[in-house]
Amino acid sequence: MPLVALGYLSGSWLGSLTVCRLAGRGDPRLAGSCNPGVSNVLRLYGLRLAFATLLLDAVKGMPVLWLAMGLGFPPWAQGVVGLGVLLGHSYPVWHRFRGGKAVASAFGVMLVLAPWVALVCAACWALLAWRVRTAAVASLVSAALAPLASVWLAPEYTGVVIAFTALVLARHVLNIQRLGRGNEPGL
Ligand code: G3P
Repeated sequence: MPLVALGYLSGSWLGSLTVCRLAGRGDPRLAGSCNPGVSNVLRLYGLRLAFATLLLDAVKGMPVLWLAMGLGFPPWAQGVVGLGVLLGHSYPVWHRFRGGKAVASAFGVMLVLAPWVALVCAACWALLAWRVRTAAVASLVSAALAPLASVWLAPEYTGVVIAFTALVLARHVLNIQRLGRGNEPGL
């Protein structure tokens, strides 16, 4: 499907790299957790740049999703386009297929497809990040919560939300190992 490819290409643009470059800061892939994502930008450069990264990573998939919805794609096909965006973020063609953990981009995709699910997960993320001060814990719990919230708030998208959760969890294998060893970096 051409829209899945378009989603993948938009997802491949990593907001953190643009934000850090424009702000004259170093490449987030070279410091902290080395992940080109919101949490590592927050850890390295603070809230302002993290928020800008969140904004870019969340909105980048939206135009292609609106197009899919406008063309009357059924929920599962919209979800496949969204999955293309997340795969682009995690395995970006422009960056030798080394990307991020797809948390902010999943938030943006869900904000379009199932806004209440996105908002519940974002609230959970923010609360846990604030209380536990560990981004990966916030992301893992929020990702696990997403399918449950979807069953309740947007059942037509539950199948695709499960796929988003699976990808986000798979991208956190190293975090899970570090959490097990007790050396996961905080925020
Ligand atoms: O959003 C990604 C987060 O869950 C983990 O990021 O930088 O702590 O590996 P990081």
